[in-house]
Amino acid sequence: MKKKARLFALALCVIMAAMVFTGCGEKKSALARIKESGELVMLTNAAFPPFEYLSSDNEVAGVDVEIAKAIAEEIGVQLKIVDMDFDGIITSIQSGKGDIGASGITATDERRKSVDFSINYVDAAQLIIVKADNTAINGPEDLDGKKVGAQSGTTGEVFLTDETQAEVYRFKTAADAAMELSNGKLDAVVVDELPAKQIVATYSGLKVLDVPLTEEQYAIAIAKGSDDLKEVVDKVIAELLESGKIDQWIEEHKVASGS
Ligand code: ARG
Repeated sequence: MKKKARLFALALCVIMAAMVFTGCGEKKSALARIKESGELVMLTNAAFPPFEYLSSDNEVAGVDVEIAKAIAEEIGVQLKIVDMDFDGIITSIQSGKGDIGASGITATDERRKSVDFSINYVDAAQLIIVKADNTAINGPEDLDGKKVGAQSGTTGEVFLTDETQAEVYRFKTAADAAMELSNGKLDAVVVDELPAKQIVATYSGLKVLDVPLTEEQYAIAIAKGSDDLKEVVDKVIAELLESGKIDQWIEEHKVASGS
């Protein structure tokens, strides 16, 4: 019995020493974890053409998908896309439900409290959509007291609540808001420039005002402390910007998404 106990203790020591040597018990880096799982998980909200939308065969497509594919390829893993509500993406990245948030996400100081961001890859702005025959709303100063829609959790919503006295209505997608505008239940919708242009191309009787409300930059959201992942993401984006690929994808997906 005593011998057995001694043997057991010895075995335990050997195992523990092995664990120390292999770094077991240490937290794996984001990149090591992704490589081990064999997939890069992208969180997005596929209602934001040309950056992400559902293609005719119901696949998530768009500029952000192309970028994420390039990142997955660089790492050497498969890309897995999770389509979800936009207002849940940042917290889901924070809690580890996905590796990258690629969803036309504006890198804001507020969001930087919760996640890290890659380098910027697109300049953007919020624009106002109104009915084509509307002559009363010509800029943000005309939104006070009006019923204005935005996608929930977006910088468009933040702009409306912080910078105007509008009565703000929140929707799951900008297209849902545009539908209500079409039906005459809203006076205006605030949404990012390129999706705004796609919306007016889809719904007849709407127009976009040529007045940028904000200056924003899109970046990819990554969980804080994922430094080796961020390094790869930044490198891939820098190369894609340099080669003009991102501009090319924007043009291609404008056409493919019908804007
Ligand atoms: N750029 C805006 C923001 O960061 C809107 C992004 C909405 N993206 C989407 N895929 N629905 O809040």
